[in-house]
Amino acid sequence: MPPIIEVEGLVVAFPKPGGGMRAVLDGVTLAVEAGEAMGLVGESGCGKSLTALATVRLLPQTARVVGGSVRLGGEDVLGAEEKRLCELRGGVVGFVFQEPSRALNPVRSVGSQVTEAARLHLGVRGAAATALAGRLLAEVGLDEPDRVAHAYPHQLSGGERQRVLLASALAAGPRVLIADEPTSALDTVSQQRLVELIRRLRESRGLTLLFVSHDLALVGRLVERVTVLYAGETVEVAGRDALFADPRHPYTQALLQARLESGDAPGLFPTVPGAVPRAGEWGTGCRFAPRCPHAWERCRGARPALAPAGDGRTVRCFLASDEEEPGG
Ligand SMILES: Nc1ncnc2c1ncn2[C@@H]1O[C@H](COP(=O)(O)OP(=O)(O)O)[C@@H](O)[C@H]1O
Ligand code: SF4
Ligand SMILES: [Mg+2]
Repeated sequence: MPPIIEVEGLVVAFPKPGGGMRAVLDGVTLAVEAGEAMGLVGESGCGKSLTALATVRLLPQTARVVGGSVRLGGEDVLGAEEKRLCELRGGVVGFVFQEPSRALNPVRSVGSQVTEAARLHLGVRGAAATALAGRLLAEVGLDEPDRVAHAYPHQLSGGERQRVLLASALAAGPRVLIADEPTSALDTVSQQRLVELIRRLRESRGLTLLFVSHDLALVGRLVERVTVLYAGETVEVAGRDALFADPRHPYTQALLQARLESGDAPGLFPTVPGAVPRAGEWGTGCRFAPRCPHAWERCRGARPALAPAGDGRTVRCFLASDEEEPGG
């Protein structure tokens, strides 16, 4: 069976203000097997949200995919017709988005929004929709589903709103759940509860999960494998335990080190010294070289390829493998 989500060598560019295009993703590879939980991590601006959006071709209007491939269950997403994309979005893949503009509509009741995907994909209406809203809201652990169904978003707490978003992502019974930083606006206790809820939903519904977060420790609580992005490219893919015990890419090492220094409380923003280069301003060598304590001459002249590094992991670093991308 092909992986349920398969992104290979994805390149996404935006128009530059002065003309021309600027690549913001260039070398993103991600494979999520059916039934597994994968974490997608990296600092802000590394390309996590764009990667997640690309899986169902929901990139911003001005974005252009200029290279690579995206498949869902073996099906080509980039070449798919609009009608098929609509079926995939919500029907096959449920999405909890990061951008507030894609969150709840302030002037519609929660109940009608929760069942939107079921109306669209399964034709559920009227009393059946009301009953479904109640069931979904109860399933995401909301105590008084009827009260919540009749409420407007502003009448709910942040934690309740995130649960409602989860409920709407699941309304049409998708096989895959993609959650993009679903806990980042919540306090620590609500974060833990939401993570616990996602874990339970994944088990009870047999979901494949792609969990996106800048917080490696939080991701570690939920997933079996992790894909690390840096500056628009995949730099390491590994099992969770292997990654935490023996991170191979210096960027993964720096993320874990920052996490250790900031303590284990989820929600704290651990900082790696230096800054992510601006998208598209990467130079020809390794994109991490300006921040890498191990960088040497070769790293500044050539770009390392993402290559197997044993134990089913892949790493993009000259220290971990000896391959070089053709043409740098
Ligand atoms: N609509 C857009 N127009 C132009 N550039 C964008 C747009 N959205 C994102 N980008 C660029 O792509 C980079 C990656 O964005 P994003 O995927 O949102 O990162 P992350 O989710 O990891 O924080 C950003 O740093 C930004 O430079
Ligand atoms: S290739 Fe060189 S600069 Fe890049 S992460 Fe590896 S050691 Fe550091
Ligand atoms: Mg993001």
